[in-house]
Amino acid sequence: MERISIFDTTLRDGEQAAGGSLNVKEKIEVAKQLENLGVNVIEAGFPISSKGDFESVKAIGKAIRNLSVCGLARANIKDIDACWDALKGAADPRLHIFISASPVQMKYQLNKTPEQVLDYAVKAVAHAHKYLSNIEFSPMDATRADKEFLYKLIEAVIDKGASVINIPDTVGYSVPAEYGKLIKDLRKNVPNIDKAVISVHCHNDMGLAVANSIEAISNGARQVECTVNGIGERAGNASLEEIVMILKTRKDFFKKYETSINSELIYPTSRMVSEMTGFPIPVNKAIVGANAFRHESGIHQDGVIKNSSTFEIINPRNVGVPSSSLVMGKLSGSHALKERLAELGYSLSETDFQGVFNAFKEIADRKKEVEDKDIEELVAEYQRNLNYSYILKRIQVSCGDKGLPTASIILQSPDGTEYANAEIGSGPIDAVYKAIDNIVKVPNTLTEFSVNSITHGIDAIGSVIVRIENNNTVYTGRGADVDIIVASAKAYLNALNRLIASNKTVTDEK
Ligand code: KIV
Ligand code: ZN
Repeated sequence: MERISIFDTTLRDGEQAAGGSLNVKEKIEVAKQLENLGVNVIEAGFPISSKGDFESVKAIGKAIRNLSVCGLARANIKDIDACWDALKGAADPRLHIFISASPVQMKYQLNKTPEQVLDYAVKAVAHAHKYLSNIEFSPMDATRADKEFLYKLIEAVIDKGASVINIPDTVGYSVPAEYGKLIKDLRKNVPNIDKAVISVHCHNDMGLAVANSIEAISNGARQVECTVNGIGERAGNASLEEIVMILKTRKDFFKKYETSINSELIYPTSRMVSEMTGFPIPVNKAIVGANAFRHESGIHQDGVIKNSSTFEIINPRNVGVPSSSLVMGKLSGSHALKERLAELGYSLSETDFQGVFNAFKEIADRKKEVEDKDIEELVAEYQRNLNYSYILKRIQVSCGDKGLPTASIILQSPDGTEYANAEIGSGPIDAVYKAIDNIVKVPNTLTEFSVNSITHGIDAIGSVIVRIENNNTVYTGRGADVDIIVASAKAYLNALNRLIASNKTVTDEK
């Protein structure tokens, strides 16, 4: 068998997706989950780009000891030194250097000739080689580069010590047959290519990121760069769960390839990334979408009842999707909830369990049937509120088609102090947010607000996602409740708490 190395860039390229930024603590949590999932390399950030990224790479390097932790750098001394500074405490650090290689990017973005780019690249790799030997090199926009130039560039950086050559389809321009041929041609035309592992990095602008990655594997790539849920710049990156499950499900076709991923952890990892980044998983998303294993048509249902393989090519259990048989309600006790949580893949401490159980009892009083998705949302809501500067204690809203929408709220800080305020607004949510602003007093701009229902029915839990901007940084907040005004208040507070926490980290370090 040949091992396909899974290079996860959820915390770097994935986090680059507009509005998906995570704080250091959240990144460490995701990194630990990725380690359990079984990825081989975690790209933890781009250290020169921000203090937060530097700290994340450093902290993840310290926390993750059983696999390689990677940091990104442009091909210059300053970037590489900062990257190494962040990485040097890691058990198996990898430094990833990139530079534009296509005519359009070299000319308009870098204003450099191909010769200058080659010179920068070899000097950068040689400089990094003074620190470590695990060096990855990416000729950015490789799929639009001149092939002869690409061969020359790759040969030169391998000579200077690059051990992984990554071929980015940066703008998602390539198509499978062409991308596969590019990998094949590199193996034929770069004389020292056998001294490096070929890696692929595909973007999804035309929906081909996974197909291109798979074709590249068939043509000799042995590392795939991907993200959980396929998040990333613009239309995203190749999706980790799809690549892994294609290789696993079609073992008959991809006989000789294997990955080290524990596929049963795919679903909980996907949920965690969605929850933390605030990017909902599309219902029809392959492998992890809510409809991925739901059969609506009578003919399909009939087939699945007779034999699941009639219309199901993957057993949902194999990717960690729980099979929901038990319906929970207000008569369900703590034992039943504990069992359900275990089946859903949660292992909570006794204190955390009590917190979730209290929330469950409260919701079960207001909702006839509590489904798995509701329980997942309750756990997420509980976890969101473990660290806070302000929490929602009481909220009262009056609104209608005549009169002034008015909100009165009480917030509480961790030392128990309560803050009350009331405001009027153009609508109930505006009034609530103004009242919160009067207390919290952190300037920000609300850039996004969306409401979704977690399950079906009139008593479904509403999940609100908000994004706020402060100082050019976007903070995402989520809140869930059967009352969407309450959920909206919780979501806004969640975003504000994250903003306040990130400012504290920076101040503490000064
Ligand atoms: O898409 C891209 O080209 C990248 C590089 C930095 C590898 O993300
Ligand atoms: Zn990328």
